[in-house]
Formats: sequence, C-alpha cells, structure tokens
Amino acid sequence: MKQLAIYRYEYNYAGIRGIGITTDGELVLTKQNETIPQLDSRTRIIRNEEVLDAFSAPIKIFLDPSTKCPLKCPFCLSDSGSANTKGIDEAEIERLSNQIIDFGVLKVKIGGGEPFVYPYFYDLIKKFNNSGISVSTSTSGITFPTITQEKLNILRENRVKVSISLDGGEQYHDKTRCFPGLFKIAISSVKTLKENGIKTELRSTIINTKESYDQIFELDKISKKLEVPIRIRSVKPKGRAAVSNLSTLFPDEKYWFFYDAVRKLRNDNPFINLEEVFCYDSSAHYSVFGQKLDCAAGTRSAYIDWNCHFSPCGFIDSYFPSETLKGTDIKMLWKNGYNFKKIREYFKTENKNSKCSHCAYVNACQGGCPSVRLATKTPIDPRCPLQKKTYLNEGS
Ligand SMILES: C[S@@+](CC[C@H](N)C(=O)[O-])C[C@H]1O[C@@H](n2cnc3c(N)ncnc32)[C@H](O)[C@@H]1O
Ligand code: SF4
Ligand code: SF4
Repeated sequence: MKQLAIYRYEYNYAGIRGIGITTDGELVLTKQNETIPQLDSRTRIIRNEEVLDAFSAPIKIFLDPSTKCPLKCPFCLSDSGSANTKGIDEAEIERLSNQIIDFGVLKVKIGGGEPFVYPYFYDLIKKFNNSGISVSTSTSGITFPTITQEKLNILRENRVKVSISLDGGEQYHDKTRCFPGLFKIAISSVKTLKENGIKTELRSTIINTKESYDQIFELDKISKKLEVPIRIRSVKPKGRAAVSNLSTLFPDEKYWFFYDAVRKLRNDNPFINLEEVFCYDSSAHYSVFGQKLDCAAGTRSAYIDWNCHFSPCGFIDSYFPSETLKGTDIKMLWKNGYNFKKIREYFKTENKNSKCSHCAYVNACQGGCPSVRLATKTPIDPRCPLQKKTYLNEGS
C-alpha cells in the first residue's frame, strides 16, 4: 500500500473501522472485519469521539471562503460576483483551517466565488497539503491568462486537482457565463495545467434549456480532444439557479432526450463522468459505503460558506440551516449541531419509508439528490430513471 498521510480510527459507521488517505490522495478504507494497516511516524493518526449515525469527522469538506468573482453566472449557487462580496478574513481562516486539520478531515475542496482571487488561497493549499489533506479546487480559469510559473508550481507541488468549468461549445459557454473569450481561456487553462503536470478535469453545469442540454455533444468532443475527464452535473436549485428556475426539477421531453444521449455518449467516451441519477444502473464508486439514500451530506461530508456557516451540504442549507463556526469548535457542531442531527434523522427516516430504499439501484442512484426531492416536495426525485415520467407543466 502507498504511504498513508492521515489515518483516522472510526466506530463502524457504514461498516468502516478506519479510514485514511495516501500521499497520492487515494482513500483507504478498513472494514469492520479487516485489520488496521501498519502505521508509522509519517502518518498523522486521528482519534475523535464517536458520532451517532455518521463518521467521527467529515471525509471531505467543501469550503467556499468568499463570494468574490469577476463573473456573474446566471445559475451561480453562491450568488457570487464583484459587488457586495463576503469572505472569511485572515484570522478566521487561520483558526478554521487549524480546526479542519486537527479534526482529521481527509479532503478539502476550495470553491467560491472564484478561489483564485481569494487572498489566502495559496496559503490554504500549502497548509492543508502539509497536513496530508488532499486539496481540490474549481475555477472558471478567469485568472489563468496572468498566472505566474511560481503559482503553477505551488499547485503542482501541493498536488492540487483543478476543475475547469466548461458548460459547452464556444458560443454557448461565452454567452451563458456572460464573458466573451472565456471558452478559449478555459481550454488554454486545461492545457497549461496539463503541461505543468497538474491534475485537471472539466466540470460542466447543465441548466434546463434545450440549448444547454445540446451542449453534451460538444462537451463529448472537447473531452476526447483534450483527453481530460469531464464531470457533467445538472444545476441544483440553489442561489441564482433557484431564483431563475434553471434546474431541471420536473423533467420534460427535452430532458429525457438529453438523458438518453448523455448515457449513450458515456458508453463510448471513458472521460465522461455522470452524476448518480444518470448512471443509476452502474456500480457507483460511492456505493462502497452502501448507505442507500444517504448521499454523504452530514454523514461523510460537510460545507462551510463565506460567513463561516457550517452545514451538511451547500445545496440544501435552506432545509438544514447552517450554524456559525465563529467562536465554536467544528467537532462540537459536527457531533451535536442541530442541522447535522436533523439530516442524519432525515436519511434514516427516508431509508425506512421511501420507495427508493427498496429499489435494487438505490446504492448507486441514491434516489437522485435531496435538493431536488426537497425542492419538489416529492417522495421520489421526479427524475427517477425507472419511472421516466414526463411532466408537461411543473409538477403535473
Ligand atoms: C460555484 S463554482 C465556484 C468556482 C468557480 N467560480 C467556477 O465557476 O468554477 C463551482 C462549480 O459549481 C458550479 N455551479 C454553480 N452554481 C451551481 C448550481 N446552482 N448547481 C450546481 N452547480 C453549480 C459551477 O458551474 C462550477 O463548476
Ligand atoms: S459559478 Fe463560479 S464563475 Fe460563475 S459566478 Fe459563480 S463563482 Fe463565479
Ligand atoms: S426508485 Fe428511481 S430514484 Fe429511487 S433509487 Fe430507484 S432508480 Fe433511483
């Protein structure tokens, strides 16, 4: 086995008694009936208190430290832009990052806003990596035309994985992100990252218009040409996407055409990575935890926003309201925070009562996404691929 950077003892939640991360950023699980790997002084060993119905700490934290962004995409979950921005200040991010490290979190994804304009971005990367945490980030690439070699070296030396957002072909991407020339910037950012030996992938956000759905044909070609993985995700009903009704909640014929097409493309393009509800009938990597309708929010992962608010997931924090981390300890809120207890209870109830819990595909599909079930107030995600229901108007 590769060298472990962090190893955390667990209490058999999801049948896991220990979990670690290698210096290559790979998760290593020790199941209930397996022996704990040999650990030496190069591994940071963590023992937390037991937490009911969850791991003793998140495996992954999604950290959006600021809403500052040179763009203003119409679907942005964090309502980011250049005016009235909010962000975590230096003292607070120092305190918070220390807590994340001490807690034994294994992965951190730094988002935003635009992470590359957050003043403490590179310091955070170095600090997390020095503690063995695997760091990833997502960017539109907007700052890449002026990125220095020194900064690229920091990304490579600290093993950062960089997702470049690309929502479709040139005309569409520039129009939808309201920034002429952004497509070319995104493509050249991928090339720069690859040339510098930095792990990269594309990340596409699909909204509920025919024009957006049709972009998958372009995206398929681009990922093959660039030879980079591409994560295709549907926009979630949060922030500006919720206000402007840009998520697919009740699918129509256009959606099902897109759904069939993207599944077909995936069969011939190994770079395409689809979200759970699109590949409900394939063995999903997350199914290793076999927790049915538990999508990870509040049991294996958590979210911190620009106000230092801590919640199970950034897409559903209006249903499981966040609590502030200012002046308190992350361990305490993860274990006893009202919103965390509430979502763990929600998953337990769903796994008892929902029709999805009896579905043969539930471990891969996870019943779609709680953000959609909660926004539509439906017991089953209306995008259920087994029912394949077409709605004429919202909800009818
Ligand atoms: C919030 S952005 C932050 C990083 C950076 N500014 C960017 O656009 O890549 C991270 C990713 O989330 C996607 N995104 C934004 N709003 C979303 C929403 N409502 N639902 C799902 N994904 C969303 C973006 O397209 C982007 O790929
Ligand atoms: S999606 Fe990313 S690039 Fe677009 S406004 Fe939001 S933070 Fe900025
Ligand atoms: S019933 Fe549909 S939505 Fe639920 S787990 Fe099965 S395929 Fe997924």
